[in-house]
Amino acid sequence: MPLIEPYRIKVVEPIPITTRPERQRALADAGYNLFNLRAEEVTIDLLSDSGTGALSAAQQAAAVSADETYAGARSFYRFREAVADLTGYPRILPVHQGRAAERILFTSLLEPGQLVLNNTHFDTTRANVELLGCEARDLPCPEAADLDSSEPFKGNINVAALAKTLAGPEGNRVGLVLMTITNNGGGGQPVSMANLTETSELCQRYGVPFILDAARFAENAWLVTQREPGYRHRTPREVARLAFALADGCMASLKKDGIGHIGAVLALRNEALANRCEMLLIATEGFRTYGGLAGRDLDMLAIGLREITEPEYLAARAAGTAHLADLAAAAGVDSVRPTGIHALYLNAGRLLTHLPPHRYPGHALACELFLAGGIRCVELGSLYLGKQDEHGTLITPAPYELVRLAIPRRVYTQSHLEYVAEVIAEVASNPTRVPGYQMVEASPLLRHFNSRLEPVPASPTGQAR
Ligand code: F0G
Repeated sequence: MPLIEPYRIKVVEPIPITTRPERQRALADAGYNLFNLRAEEVTIDLLSDSGTGALSAAQQAAAVSADETYAGARSFYRFREAVADLTGYPRILPVHQGRAAERILFTSLLEPGQLVLNNTHFDTTRANVELLGCEARDLPCPEAADLDSSEPFKGNINVAALAKTLAGPEGNRVGLVLMTITNNGGGGQPVSMANLTETSELCQRYGVPFILDAARFAENAWLVTQREPGYRHRTPREVARLAFALADGCMASLKKDGIGHIGAVLALRNEALANRCEMLLIATEGFRTYGGLAGRDLDMLAIGLREITEPEYLAARAAGTAHLADLAAAAGVDSVRPTGIHALYLNAGRLLTHLPPHRYPGHALACELFLAGGIRCVELGSLYLGKQDEHGTLITPAPYELVRLAIPRRVYTQSHLEYVAEVIAEVASNPTRVPGYQMVEASPLLRHFNSRLEPVPASPTGQAR
């Protein structure tokens, strides 16, 4: 049986088909910042896989029969049952999205000056650690540095560095160890069960809480069943349960692998910590049986959390991303290997060699994909991760110039992805034509969301100025 999407389409939404002059105008009006575009200007939106998934008929049916009671709604108990069945954690707090879970957990757990270790912090996770006067430190495994290698678990934490930090002079500063599955900041790469087990043992030995940032727990579990010996005969749901069992709790944005438009969960083993979190939840999000969500959101998430671990769905989704990666490679555009699931990370630095980091090759490729085909994606390079001075001049470039094409769940078909590949190929057929960019209005905070840029045409020799 060939791999096909294991669902058919029942409700459709037209997507805008635009002309190049229209896109040129839209991008200029947006200050050459793709975050400023309006939805009606975008043909294929690969900006994020968060909150952008398509609901199933079962989720929509659950929304209609949801319970909007203020306290003790049936919807909450159905949500709690779905999360408990998956994670095994006794205390389950709904929140409106992942970053609220981060804020509530960190505020209840950390003291200023403490250190948080993670394979790679997502940007809001880092921000919430730093807002409390703590330090967020990434410890990616050494294999992650080679974008082209086919090492299966490049999302792993560096266990040797973790052990050294916990045992060393900074050990008593470590307030929390996190593991982001899959590692979104690190190319969407998975974390192995072996790595989770070693991390769990180290945290137990040193008495440090170990929490999963589990936004893409099902995709991580699927990749474990495909890549880790010993787990090939397990279902993704079984692997996910084993992963949750190794930690003291999780924060999970359910806008990804919960297939919800909004929602997240903070689930914990420790009663005293959960009680502190619950007080903050009630003060800042909502009562403990809704946490800032409507009953219908809770019910849709309860169903989404069951649908997301279906092997046929995960197999088809993984195959879609891999197909896109293969088509891009055939067009001469490399991406981070091995291909993950939620996104393709194109190596813009390698494609646009005529653009130095201060001309933002990742941003240039992202803009060009929009101009050529109405595709929206996000730069993960020197614009987002580099260090700038107060005038917006790049001082330290990012280690890589990547572009993330995140794939919403159950939204685009294979032919949409093949269209994306055609647009990539068109841009790659003449890369030196792609102009670099310079900052015209730098924003001191959340730069990549707020800055305005302008293209810098290539000089006649093809070199960026
Ligand atoms: N953790 C990870 C690993 C994430 O990828 C995200 C969000 C969050 C936490 C925060 O969750 O958005 O519900 O508050 N990632 C989105 C993305 C925004 O596009 O990768 P949230």
